[in-house]
Amino acid sequence: MSKNSDIKIYEYDAVIVGAGLAGLAAAKELTEAGKKTAVITKLHPLRSHSGAAQGGINAALGKEDSTELHEFDTVKGSDYLADQDCVELMCSKAPETIRWAERMGAVFSRDEEGDIAIRPFGGQSKPRACYAKDRTGLTLLQTIYEQADRAGIEVFDEWYAGDLLYKDGKVSGVAAYNIKDSKPAIFNAKVTMFATGGHARAYRFNSNAHANTGDSLSIVARHGLPLEDMEFVQFHPSGLGGSGVLISEAARGEGGRLYNSEGERFMTKYAPNAMELASRDVVSRAIMEEVRQGRGVGKDGQSVNIDLTHLDPEIILTRLPELRELAIAFQGQDMLKEPIHISATAHYSMGGIPTNINCQVQKNVAGDLVEGFYAAGECSCVSVHGANRLGANSVLEALLFGRHAGENMVKALEEGIELRPATAADAETMLAEMNKIKTSNGSESVPKLREELQIGMTADAGVFRSKESLERQLKLIDELLVRFNNIRIDDKSNTFNTDLQEAIELGHMLEFSKFIVVGALKREESRGGHYREDFPERNDEKFMVHTYATMDKEHNISIEWGKVTPGKFEPMERKY
Ligand code: FUM
Repeated sequence: MSKNSDIKIYEYDAVIVGAGLAGLAAAKELTEAGKKTAVITKLHPLRSHSGAAQGGINAALGKEDSTELHEFDTVKGSDYLADQDCVELMCSKAPETIRWAERMGAVFSRDEEGDIAIRPFGGQSKPRACYAKDRTGLTLLQTIYEQADRAGIEVFDEWYAGDLLYKDGKVSGVAAYNIKDSKPAIFNAKVTMFATGGHARAYRFNSNAHANTGDSLSIVARHGLPLEDMEFVQFHPSGLGGSGVLISEAARGEGGRLYNSEGERFMTKYAPNAMELASRDVVSRAIMEEVRQGRGVGKDGQSVNIDLTHLDPEIILTRLPELRELAIAFQGQDMLKEPIHISATAHYSMGGIPTNINCQVQKNVAGDLVEGFYAAGECSCVSVHGANRLGANSVLEALLFGRHAGENMVKALEEGIELRPATAADAETMLAEMNKIKTSNGSESVPKLREELQIGMTADAGVFRSKESLERQLKLIDELLVRFNNIRIDDKSNTFNTDLQEAIELGHMLEFSKFIVVGALKREESRGGHYREDFPERNDEKFMVHTYATMDKEHNISIEWGKVTPGKFEPMERKY
């Protein structure tokens, strides 16, 4: 183990954890403004999960579309829980964000007139998702990485950020270690940003990369800071049956139809107007209901069919080539010739680290700010998605609010934010955690505990929830937290010790999963992606509020309720 004297202390204007669209967009702004910026990431930036976003990025570019319609669809999609000032900012800046991405070199698909092509997506009253075939996120990630690299960002890839330097309401960087040799370092900074992405790996069936273990959430929570709206987890309607690998909503946007085992196009029952293009929460529940009623397909009856065989094959070959390849590779099903099996898959977190409209992290429900600390993208909750996100709004949010955070950090630096010098002692908490895990010689296996967590989250805190199922999952998490103290890892080395990393990640997953479950228990209503079978109606009188949850050292979670920022759209019954 490293001694304190071995610890290198780097000094930066800005440190960003996470190198997806949000982190890189912020880093580019900072570096171009002459601010010394480090980006710390578990992966190479081009392997960030933003690259897996397939179907599109929303902007009201269509002739019949408007920013106001985009806002309305987003607020309605959120089941009226989104903060409308933030939605307005996002939707009004969306067209300019697309032009900015294009000017940087992003190659979007074009329509017959040569304009940026747009396709319909769920819950949207007009086609609005701008796309690059079915590789939109990857195209944007490559573009922004190239430009951030050209600007001169410094990337510490395959580094693991293990702790936040937080004292007296101010953040002054992070403690991290190099995964290659386990050597720790302090990244001392005037401003710090988390842009670490999502956490759907807590679920058995999910569309997320292996890295999406939500570490930053519990890192923040361990300092007594709140997490917002964690109970709202999005289930994407179309994960490949069995694996959960994403089959983009673009498949339905281009005309894909859903059928149950009886050949019934079942969305007629659940969303007679929008059909397959209702919002994700509605379609996912419909799919799972069909499965529960015994009308599923596939070996285990846990999937439904999506059929694209009626489409012109050219559409599939030119607009959905990757989806076709994925279904062939994972399931041996060719969508040109036959329907493919899909099912709801954990996909996205609407909740996260609470921020104000300028991406500054809030330290309490009153909205007081942590000095020098920003968050953007999926790990944050600004909140533009409320209780349910619309497809193609996350790539937009990440790029737009990442850039916005970058601009705001530049401003803060120019106004003269001071560096609070760090010392080697600031790495002690992270080193103690690493040491405890590396020397652990108990009898519990990390993969086994993780699997138990994931199975329980899918079964009991998934698409359908109830007091009974959530209490069962809460009990399981509490047991797993105890058993986690008795793990054993076999790799005691310092070189690419993935046993160590996975154990640290499991600790985080157990903690933030508890936030999801406790929030879901307390929210005795159904709204967006949170569906309580014992409280099937939305209850605006009691629950038109954000959840702010904090955790103590014994992992007890307390909930407070925060105000939703209203706007021009009054809450209405949500129908598709
Ligand atoms: O279905 C998709 O292409 C996913 C996009 C999103 O989550 O925004």
